[in-house]
Amino acid sequence: NSLAPSPTPPMGWMSWYTFIDHINEKQIMEVADAMVSSGLRDAGYNLIQLDDGWMAKERDKEGRQYADKVRFPNGIKYLANYLHQKGLKLGIYSSNGSLTCAGYPGSYNHEEIDAKTYAEWGVDYLKYDACGKKEGHPDQELNMRMINAIKKTGRPMLYAVCVFGSNETHLWASKVATMWRTGGDIVQHIERNPIVTYKLWYTNLQQVIGKEAYAGNGHWNDPDNLIIGYPRNNEQTIEEQKAQFSFWSLIAAPLLLSVDVRAMDPKIKAIIMNKEVIAINQDKAGVQGSRLINDDDHEIWVKKLNDGSKAVILFNKKDVEAEIRLNLKDINEKGKVKVRDLWTKQNKTITSSLTSKVAPHGVVMFKINSFK
Ligand code: GLA
Repeated sequence: NSLAPSPTPPMGWMSWYTFIDHINEKQIMEVADAMVSSGLRDAGYNLIQLDDGWMAKERDKEGRQYADKVRFPNGIKYLANYLHQKGLKLGIYSSNGSLTCAGYPGSYNHEEIDAKTYAEWGVDYLKYDACGKKEGHPDQELNMRMINAIKKTGRPMLYAVCVFGSNETHLWASKVATMWRTGGDIVQHIERNPIVTYKLWYTNLQQVIGKEAYAGNGHWNDPDNLIIGYPRNNEQTIEEQKAQFSFWSLIAAPLLLSVDVRAMDPKIKAIIMNKEVIAINQDKAGVQGSRLINDDDHEIWVKKLNDGSKAVILFNKKDVEAEIRLNLKDINEKGKVKVRDLWTKQNKTITSSLTSKVAPHGVVMFKINSFK
């Protein structure tokens, strides 16, 4: 009789940045097949979320949402069964106003019937957006209506709030939701085909700072998708994309992919399949790492892990390679420590400090264990 638990941040793939609202059943089934054959599902990415655009432009005679009949000829239940057979979960999307952000029917004043419909279809996750008219009703109230409607169905679902971080969403959402967006869309105006650079994720990263205490115990700050392997106008270097993955892992953010998993560049696959970095994201302690040092040229971030070790990121803000120095005393360590580089997989033992060469807008990510 409650929402589904999520002891670690959700992981999966979300359709918006890959296909915008031009989604269809065939693509989603191909994505599901690729999640399995690529090894992504077994690495933990077990959710496929249909974002905006899955529905018909109007409700049926009973007032229910239904999938666009041309693009989803077999309906959502069929797709849910297909995913479940493959060990994947199905996520769906709606909005708390009268229309979704792309202009499809939203759930305003239809919360109960929509929750019931999703439960009947076998939906495992709902992302609830904030577009459309809602006659002055606050987002919190409307989200509570939907959460209570889901609870009434008895089907456990993960629940993702999307109010773009407005009005301190985290204050209430952290008590009731699996995750909540902390800011705007990481890529805006996709139709105009904007150029995707590391600045987009760096901007969204700022919006989780100060909200560390709200994450953990099954509730997560969501700075939006990973744009690693973003399929249009992606001008990020491989090092910049590794940096986003490192940060999203360190801050215990949901790991939602935007890459077209049916046709992945092996370099992109190697980033999102780095099991040691994923393990930092999925660490049982559920701590959201935080920024320790914020210099003009570089930043140092740290996260405490369940086994007493620490994950550390050295981030180079410059447009050229730089040397960054980590003083162990800054992360409350002294004496000899074991350091493992989670990208190069090299181990060393150091005392007092270490200096690393870091690529432009790139990171070095370590796991550090003391000998105690
Ligand atoms: C909003 C959300 C996005 C996406 C679109 C769909 O902009 O923030 O994540 O769901 O709506 O229209």
